[in-house]
Formats: sequence, C-alpha cells, structure tokens
Amino acid sequence: MRKAIIGGTGVYDIGESSHSKIVETKYGKVEVDIVSINGEEIVFLARHGKSHSTPPHLINYRANMKALEQLGVKYIYATVAVGSCNEKYAPGDVVIVNNFIDFTKQRPVTFFEGGDEPVKHTDMGDPYCKNLRDKFCKVAKDESIDVKGDAVYICTEGPRFETEYEIKMFKAMGGDVVGMTNVPEVVLAKELGMCYAAVGIITNWCTGVKGDITLHDIQGTLSANKERISKAFLKVFSKDLDQEHCNCKNAIIEL
Ligand code: HPA
Repeated sequence: MRKAIIGGTGVYDIGESSHSKIVETKYGKVEVDIVSINGEEIVFLARHGKSHSTPPHLINYRANMKALEQLGVKYIYATVAVGSCNEKYAPGDVVIVNNFIDFTKQRPVTFFEGGDEPVKHTDMGDPYCKNLRDKFCKVAKDESIDVKGDAVYICTEGPRFETEYEIKMFKAMGGDVVGMTNVPEVVLAKELGMCYAAVGIITNWCTGVKGDITLHDIQGTLSANKERISKAFLKVFSKDLDQEHCNCKNAIIEL
C-alpha cells in the first residue's frame, strides 16, 4: 500500500467501501481503513479518530505516521480545517499549504531521539511535497475545486482558539491560515522520507478578523468540500507517482 489520505476535521471517510485494520506500532495502535480502488489498496486514516474523539494536542502523531510507514506508504494527501487570517481567503475556500510556522508547545515532534541512533536533522526547505502540490492543483480544476492559492499554515497547540492579538501577530509574520494539527504531522512524514501535501479547507475567519467563529460554519464548509477533494486525491493516486521530482526522500541530514 503506497498511498494514503489523512482526513482532518469533517473528513472521516472517502465515500468508498472499505475494511478497517489495526496497525501496531512502537508508539501505539492505530486504526486505518483500507479502500480498494481499481485494484489498488489505498489507506485512509482519520486523524482525530473516526468519531472525532481525540483533540489536536493529544493526537498520537508518531503512531499515525509510523503505522502508515509500516503499511508501505510513500505518498500522503491530508486535509486540514483552518481559520483564515488573510482577507484573500474566505470561509469555504480551498488552499494548498506550502509552508508552516510552528507554535505548538508540548507534543512529541520527532522520531529522532538520539540514544543509539546518530543525531539527525531534517531539511525543511520544502516542507510540503512540491510534486504532490502541483498535481493536486492540476486535477482540482477537473473536479470544480477552485484552489485560491498557496497558504502559510500557523500551527497552534490548541485546543483553544487564538486571541485577537495572537492572530494580529500571526498575520504580521506572514501566516495565512491557522490550525492545530499539521505540525508535527508534516515533519514526521519528512523524517520517514514520504511525500506529503496538505489541502486547507477554510472553515472560519480567525478570531477578530471578521465576525465570530461558529460551529455551524465549520461543519457546513467541510461537508461541502470533502467529497470533491477526496476525488481529486484519488485522481492523482490513479496515475503513476515517483519521488524523482521532489526532495522528500533526501531530507535527512545526519551528523
Ligand atoms: N484556529 C485554529 N484552528 C482552527 C481554526 C482557527 O480559527 N479553524 C479551524 N481550525
């Protein structure tokens, strides 16, 4: 199984029949769905669990990513629900994440713990796979998805939303969208040499930007987008993929 989709808030399946599988890793057990499409098995992982029971700061990111590696996964598309602090990107819009700024505080963020292992660092020159990003933007047009542009993702610890002044600061430093889950997920994928891209679904204006944050907006926006985006992911996955056009498998710098 070489390809996987990680569903964020509001995306708990990809609308195809599947069977579930438990994968045991050294970090814990993970439940995934295996979906068979045109004779190929694709892995689906609900980031927060199928009933959205795990909050962002308690997700076992290392177990999730290790489980995908153990299944043989090399290519991952993920969805992320985000607030917008950029007037160009409104609720309902879809963006492609092209960089991040990490404001998480207390989650394990690496597989590289030293000890018997050499000290390793990970190149973040291109955190999100260029190849998968370009391919998504191309097929998105066929699925009537209007990708509004690239977005810099600010990752907060959560689970609280941000204050008005935190958002002013994020905006001033170049952030476009704010979420609570993409770090360390994208980092761990890189540590494992995988290609990873994240598509942002804007569910609300961030605190203080325009109006209040409401749960209703969040759910409506997600259900309107999830099918089209999953279809676009599957369309990219139906073609041959390689790691020749990106640097994802060469990002580890060993001392
Ligand atoms: N802030 C942080 N995370 C989020 C938001 C937000 O406004 N919307 C959806 N996830």
